Amino acid sequence: MNIAIERSGAIAIVQVDNPPVNALSREVRSGLIAAVQTLDADPSVQAVLLTCAGRTFIAGADVNEFGKPPQAPHLPEVIAAIEQAAKPWAAAIHGSALGGGLEVALACRFRVALANAQLGVPEVNLGLVPGAGGCVRLPRLVGARKAAEMVVKGSPIKAPAALDVGLVDAVFENDLQQNALTWLSAVVEQPLPAPVLQRSVAGAALSSEEWEQVAKALLPRDKRLQAPAMALECVKRACEAPVAEAQAFERETFLSLRGSAQARALRHVFFAERGATRPPEIKGVDTKEIQLAGVVGGGTMGAGIAMALRDAGINVVLMERDAESLQRGLDRISTTYQSSVKRGRISAETAEARIAGVRGVTDYTGLAEVDLVIEAVFEDLQVKRDVFAQLSAVCRLDAILATNTSYLDPAAIAHGVVAPERFIGLHFFSPAQIMKLLEIVPTAQTSMQTLATSFALAAKLRKIPVRAGICDGFIGNRILRVLRAQAERVLLAGATPSQVDAAMRAYGMPMGPFEAQDLGGLDIAAFQRKAAKERGEEVFAPVAEQLCEMGRLGQKTNGGWYDYEPGERKAIESAVVADVIAKVSADVAKQAWTEQDIIDCLVLPMVNEAALILQEGIAQRSADVDLVEIHGYGFPRWRGGLLQDAVERGVGEVVERLRHFAAVGMTPEPCQKLLAVAETGTF
Ligand code: NAI
Repeated sequence: MNIAIERSGAIAIVQVDNPPVNALSREVRSGLIAAVQTLDADPSVQAVLLTCAGRTFIAGADVNEFGKPPQAPHLPEVIAAIEQAAKPWAAAIHGSALGGGLEVALACRFRVALANAQLGVPEVNLGLVPGAGGCVRLPRLVGARKAAEMVVKGSPIKAPAALDVGLVDAVFENDLQQNALTWLSAVVEQPLPAPVLQRSVAGAALSSEEWEQVAKALLPRDKRLQAPAMALECVKRACEAPVAEAQAFERETFLSLRGSAQARALRHVFFAERGATRPPEIKGVDTKEIQLAGVVGGGTMGAGIAMALRDAGINVVLMERDAESLQRGLDRISTTYQSSVKRGRISAETAEARIAGVRGVTDYTGLAEVDLVIEAVFEDLQVKRDVFAQLSAVCRLDAILATNTSYLDPAAIAHGVVAPERFIGLHFFSPAQIMKLLEIVPTAQTSMQTLATSFALAAKLRKIPVRAGICDGFIGNRILRVLRAQAERVLLAGATPSQVDAAMRAYGMPMGPFEAQDLGGLDIAAFQRKAAKERGEEVFAPVAEQLCEMGRLGQKTNGGWYDYEPGERKAIESAVVADVIAKVSADVAKQAWTEQDIIDCLVLPMVNEAALILQEGIAQRSADVDLVEIHGYGFPRWRGGLLQDAVERGVGEVVERLRHFAAVGMTPEPCQKLLAVAETGTF
């Protein structure tokens, strides 16, 4: 039984016990309704305290029921039963009261919480709105503005803040059940407040201008995201329409969003992220504790990686080639932390402690005791091999040795490493202390323990780890190369850089491919192309090559794919670039490009490349490719990632469109894997 009933004098204690997070499974829902009936029928019961066993209050819906046909009793029935019970219920909240969990608490006459508890309605993150009265009841306790903020943003608030806004009635430091019982015994002797639904909205009503301001402040810039705007509309109705109408509107909105493509996409990402840190292949493998880590190279990446480690509480030894470079690296770290303090992200004490946890050295002996070392020196095979030869000589034999290389072959870097089973690629993305993606790249010799420890490290750093096989660019940069080549093909065939960038923004990318190159610098890709050419690989970047030769490297040189006024970021269409494109494409047939054609001609070859990556075993699962795109490249989360979006569109149609472009030489023919998926419908 998930629901137990105990007694403490005239108060009945209803305890939900559904590990791990007391999710609102069908059994819990029906158990709660049964408890209402039992206790209403018991004349000796004066009031009911709703508590949860384990580490949290009801933390939300049961994720195992996501995407499946809902089963009765539905949550609104549970909520109505509790709210209309003859005996007043009080929720005693510890851990998290989230989503449906908070809606259950809102059905109670009272709410009390432990000081470290959090309360929220995060449904928007799954493309939904609260569907069991959350939007209607919240403003009756906390007022229109706060309710709008909680529902539209989806971020939980802590118990003391909840007390301030009227969401809870009392907060206790400890001993929740005992304190709650004492508190409840006293308040039930007083006149009872009305059930939340029967109260009027707290605070002053908002004028239509004020609602517009609220919308402006809260809604995301990307207007294609459906749930936040609908969530706001639900709260607005709750404040302005009769209760029954507001409830019906909320439920209808919830039901229609639940079946939407965006909710499917966001659910897909939710499950992909949830599973990312423990893929089935490392199940049961022992991991090693990482307490002290070394980082070799204090440049852009090394400094970022050092901060990512410090943010997770791991002490760092930062190794540089000389005192001057070391100082630059350490300065980079302190400057970044200090600017976080200025922005109010961390306190000055925290920054100080994080900085103090980095010890700088210029001698390899300083790395003798580390549990793991991550190399982030220049992207040069010989330089990296020399580093690993030194590390092999000084580090403990069981220390993990990792490279952050972007394009070199980790197996080639590992050549000569002592105990190569502890060697692995850990590919961070820039800025490493912020970007969530971590590509984990084992070589053929990497042990399972090294692999599993790398996943555990990622979890500790709060990164999203994705296992990648060895190939040029691993998963993410290999797909990026296709995007860039396609973007140039489209230019040669008559589109302009700004048309291409606008189309990709319209698709949902934060930036178009040319804007992104101008921001990052065209020299990075040029360097990679040079290496690829040296390996005898074909590269396609005729315009970019010309621009690099002309010294047009992007914003930093006041010109790249666009022109820039010195010190300005505004991209100006460039006559010089148009000239280069015209010359390079003299013998290419031109066509008129619609936005959709541009999107298809860029995105669908990326889908095809991703399918090839799966076909070759470079990625293990299609969801991994989706995580790479979302967390490494800003792919819109609401599309669910590159491959989820292709599935949503229909892979048959993707294949058809690719064939259409392939016929005119704009894209490759669809690969075997993609053709197979077109038959089955899933990757
Ligand atoms: P960077 O040029 O900013 O930093 C390299 C640092 O390594 C310099 O501070 C240099 O003094 C130091 N260094 C060079 N040789 C050394 C040695 N023998 N011993 C100790 N320190 C030495 O380069 P960045 O951008 O940080 O890249 C480092 C690595 O990370 C490269 O392999 C790169 O491909 C990879 N990477 C870069 C990304 C980026 O966006 N910049 C993204 C992901 C990976």
